[in-house]
Amino acid sequence: MSENHGLAPATIAVASARPTRSQGSPVNPPITLSSTYHSIGSPDGSMLYSRWSNETWHPAEELIAELEGSPLPALLHSSGMAAVANAMHLNRPGAPIVMPRHAYHASLIVAHDRSAREGGQVREVDVADTDAVAAAISADGEAAGLVWIESPTNPMLEVADIPAICEAAHAAGALVAVDNTFATPLGQRPLEAGADVVVHSATKYLSGHSDVVLGAALASRGDLHEALHEERTDAGGVAGPVEAWLLLRSMRTLPLRMERIWASAAELARRLEEHPLVAEVRHPSLPSHPQHERAKRLMSCFGGVLTMRPVGGLRAAEELGRFVRIWLPATSLGGVESSFERRRRFPTEAATVPEDLLRVSVGIEDVEDLWRDLDATLKEVHQ
Ligand SMILES: Cc1ncc(COP(=O)(O)O)c(C=O)c1O
Repeated sequence: MSENHGLAPATIAVASARPTRSQGSPVNPPITLSSTYHSIGSPDGSMLYSRWSNETWHPAEELIAELEGSPLPALLHSSGMAAVANAMHLNRPGAPIVMPRHAYHASLIVAHDRSAREGGQVREVDVADTDAVAAAISADGEAAGLVWIESPTNPMLEVADIPAICEAAHAAGALVAVDNTFATPLGQRPLEAGADVVVHSATKYLSGHSDVVLGAALASRGDLHEALHEERTDAGGVAGPVEAWLLLRSMRTLPLRMERIWASAAELARRLEEHPLVAEVRHPSLPSHPQHERAKRLMSCFGGVLTMRPVGGLRAAEELGRFVRIWLPATSLGGVESSFERRRRFPTEAATVPEDLLRVSVGIEDVEDLWRDLDATLKEVHQ
């Protein structure tokens, strides 16, 4: 991993995690379809069984780690939620968890379920309000065991001050885990900002083609990495080798995709904010976003997700999906195809998310085509 130190992410994504060069060696790693390995005597750390490790995971794990600036390899999981659940497992049993009130809804459900079983509590906060987060960390005379950060949050796009929260959490003895799905390692590197753990839904930008479900977790320290590895092996939320290979293949173009996605998202946000049939737009690139300055300071991107609330409220938000031609009405995000979804269609989404809010995931299509389709659809819905 260290041999690529100092290279730009666009180069690392292409040059890293390749088989060793020798005459006649393949340029891409093979897919190892083997559940078990030839093995005699006491396990000695070599390959043994594919719930514990599989060679096909390793190049993708290495590449994610390099992009995240981690000296330890990432740990692939069968889904983002498998990685999230594993990271939450690092909390001391029963210790309070501080979480953004607009974290991904399934992450909140896992935290609440776990805390209910263990007699703990989830302290939901506005993660953009650093003082409120610090207060929640040490509320009720009991320090939190885990501070969970999503930044930008899904779907409200609040931007957290990750370094400041890490400092407050560590002063109180709490671990910090950051879900870096929205920003990607190209947008921010939470381990370098002080986080102990980073998780990804690799289903989203890292894979980027809406064809696999995968997760990844990274740790800043050997003991945490070991704990994550052990729990992954025991709980069994492991990746299939073919999916892991597809992830590696997709990450070769991650920087290229993100460059287009970020530029198009910012351009569409700017135009939508001026659209007479759009009531509200949120994107960290907009000066109207409450944490625009913070995002400029802490992130190298503003992200590929924006939100919008059409004029006409819930009915218009529902109707848009029926009229679009290029945009895909679908859940998930981070694919090459642009999509959107009304998040409150899920009863588990936070009640503070407006009923008519659409979470918009910008893909890599031509931005003018995307604009024309959205503009025409907004007009059709209002006819
Ligand atoms: C921010 C975030 N974290 C985690 C997840 C869960 O990932 P997966 O669907 O791969 O399990 C999602 C899924 O939408 C997400 O948006």
